[in-house]
Amino acid sequence: MSLVREPEGSPAGDAAPARNEVFRDGRLAGLAPEDLAERFGTPAYVYDLDVVSRQVAGLRACLPTRFDLAYAVKANPSLAVLRHIASLGLGADVASGGELRHVIRAGFDPAHVVMTGPGKRDDELAAAVGAGVRVVTVESVSELRRLARIGEGLGRVQPILLRANATGAASMERVRIIGDEGVGKFGMGAPDLRIAAAEAVASRWLEPIGLHAFGASNVTDAAALAAHVEATVDAAGALAVDAGFELRLVDAGGGLGIPYAEHEAGLDLVDLGRRLAALSDRMDDREATRGTRLLLEPGRFLVGSSGAYLTRVLECKQVGRGHVVIVDGGIHHVLRPALVGQEHRVRVVTGAAAEPSAVPDGLPVSIAGPLCTGLDFFAREAVLALPAPGDLVAVLDLGAYGATESMPLFLSHPMPPEVAVRGGEVWVARPRVDPDVWLGWQVGEPGGA
Ligand SMILES: Cc1ncc(COP(=O)(O)O)c(C=O)c1O
Repeated sequence: MSLVREPEGSPAGDAAPARNEVFRDGRLAGLAPEDLAERFGTPAYVYDLDVVSRQVAGLRACLPTRFDLAYAVKANPSLAVLRHIASLGLGADVASGGELRHVIRAGFDPAHVVMTGPGKRDDELAAAVGAGVRVVTVESVSELRRLARIGEGLGRVQPILLRANATGAASMERVRIIGDEGVGKFGMGAPDLRIAAAEAVASRWLEPIGLHAFGASNVTDAAALAAHVEATVDAAGALAVDAGFELRLVDAGGGLGIPYAEHEAGLDLVDLGRRLAALSDRMDDREATRGTRLLLEPGRFLVGSSGAYLTRVLECKQVGRGHVVIVDGGIHHVLRPALVGQEHRVRVVTGAAAEPSAVPDGLPVSIAGPLCTGLDFFAREAVLALPAPGDLVAVLDLGAYGATESMPLFLSHPMPPEVAVRGGEVWVARPRVDPDVWLGWQVGEPGGA
C-alpha cells in the first residue's frame, strides 16, 4: 500500500483514497484552520510531523534491509522537522557547513550524516571531517585533493563517495539519465571519475567506498527510480573493480516524488519495493556487492505533503471577466510556483466558500499575493467558489522547498512563523520575524547610521 495514497479520511466509495497529508477533513494537522490563524497569525507555515512519520514508515516498509535513509535537509531545515526525523533514526544529507551544524544541534549522529554538494569550501570540508561524518561525496578531482590535504592536516582518514555526473558521464552510460540536472554542474564525467578513484585509492587520507549519482527530481515512476538505483550500482561496481577498492556504499540520491496536481498518482511503494528487492537479491548473488549498502537521500518525499502555507484573504475584486482574490501571503514565501512552474493545490478552508455545498459563480477565480509582480499567483482563473475577505486559504504540499526555497526579503513583509504539530501538540518552531530585524542590520553611510 502506498502511504502517499493511503485511505485515511477517504469517504466510503471514493475511487482515489485520501493522501497522507497535512490537510484532512477540512482541518490542518488535525486542527481548525481558524484556531491556528488566530493563535499564530497569517501567513504561516504549518507542518504535521505525524504525516512525516507515516511517510518514513511507508518508505522503510518497502525497502530491503540493505538500504539506509539520509534525509535531505535542504527540503526543510526546520529544527522541529530535523529533531523529529532524527528521533525516527534516519541519517541526514547536508549540503553546507550551516546544515552540518544544524543537524548536529538537532541530534543526528555525525556517523549517519553524509555531505554532498558541488561547491564545498575548505572550512566546510574540514568541519565535516572533524565531525566524523559517515561519508563526504566528492564532486571534482580538485575537491578530492583539497579534502586529502584537509584530512592530512587533521590527521583523519575520510571515507568518500565519488559523484558521477548523471547527465554527462559518457562512458558511465549505465548511469541512465532519467531526468535533467541542467548543464551538468554536478559530479564528474567518466575521465575525472577514473582519475579521482585512482588518486583516492592511492591516498593515505581518503578511503573511497563507493559512488553517488542523483537521477532526477520529483520522480513518481517506481520503474524509473529502481532503474536509476540499479544503473548506479552497476556503474559503482565497474568503477570499484577498475580502481581496486571495495564497494561498500552506493548512494542513489533523492528525487522520490510526490503528487502535486489534483488527481496525480503518487509513487507506488509496493512496486518500488518489489523492484528494489529484486535488485538486492541480485546484489546478494555477487561477491563484490553482497555486503554493499545502498543509500537514498529523500527530502521531498518525506516532508513535502506534511506542510501547508496558511493565508488570509485581504481583498476580492472583479477584474475584467474574472474574480481576483488577494491574500496576505505570496511567492516571497512560496517561490516554487514561479521558480519551477509548479502549481500547488490551493484550498479555501474557512467561510462559505469552504462548505461542500459551495458552488462557483461562473466567473474564474485567481488567487494572488500582495507582491508587486505579475508572478505572484497561487491560482490563475480556477473554477472555485469565491472566498470572502477574512476567509483562510491554504496552499498545500509546502513541507518541502517551501520556507527554505523562498525569498522573504522581497518587499519587506514579515517572515512567516513555522508552526509544528505532532500528536495534537502544537508549537512555534520558528517565530514570525519582523522586517525591522533585517532592515535594522543595514548601514547606509560609512561609520554607522
Ligand atoms: C544530492 C542531493 N540529495 C538529495 C536531494 C533531495 O532531493 P529530493 O528532495 O527531490 O528527494 C537533492 C536535491 O536537490 C540533492 O541535490
